[in-house]
Amino acid sequence: MSKQKISAQLLLGPVPAALISCGRDTGEKNIITLAWVGVVNSSPPMVSIAVRPNRHSHAIIADTGEFVVNIPTVEQVDLVDGCGTHSGKNINKFTHFGVTPVMGTLKYAPLIDECPLNMECVVEHTLALGSHSLFIGRVVQAYADESATGEKGKVDFNRCRLLGYSNGQYLSVTPLDLKLGYTLKK
Ligand SMILES: Cc1cc2nc3c(=O)[nH]c(=O)nc-3n(C[C@H](O)[C@H](O)[C@H](O)COP(=O)(O)O)c2cc1C
Repeated sequence: MSKQKISAQLLLGPVPAALISCGRDTGEKNIITLAWVGVVNSSPPMVSIAVRPNRHSHAIIADTGEFVVNIPTVEQVDLVDGCGTHSGKNINKFTHFGVTPVMGTLKYAPLIDECPLNMECVVEHTLALGSHSLFIGRVVQAYADESATGEKGKVDFNRCRLLGYSNGQYLSVTPLDLKLGYTLKK
């Protein structure tokens, strides 16, 4: 073993580059790109998002207790990057980047119609961790485009052309065509 000690750092990758949408009762709608998005529970289905308090979206999510996780494709990398380098303080990202807000079952947070997969979430817990707030949301409704589903309407990640992110780099995530023990349980 030739291990070197390196500084305490985050060595997880790839993580999804996701588009989180949110909104207010004033009609304002926003999108923020987040890579720190994770699955945290299966029953009930729950996801976490880590958001810096200075993001415009932070106050919207904290005030309304709602957000939508929209999963983009690799072809949407410009949209993902744009929503992660512009603030909703200054622009309406839906009109600026030409994407469509569609209301689902939540009161204020819209889906992004152009993303093939969407999860509507209601905030159940908020943790102030330091640099980021962790919002843990229960998925109350999910949506899949036909382009992302296969047999019997099941989501088929082979068809989703997933976009990942790691250490300052965008990645394309390609599923492996393997049939191993754990994959057979799904
Ligand atoms: C690929 C990528 C990943 C990002 N991940 C996060 C993240 O996990 N948490 C966060 O607070 N900001 C993250 N950001 C930065 C925000 O998306 C960015 O500051 C954005 O402009 C904030 O938008 P808002 O002010 O409209 O909320 C990321 C940006 C990019 C491009």
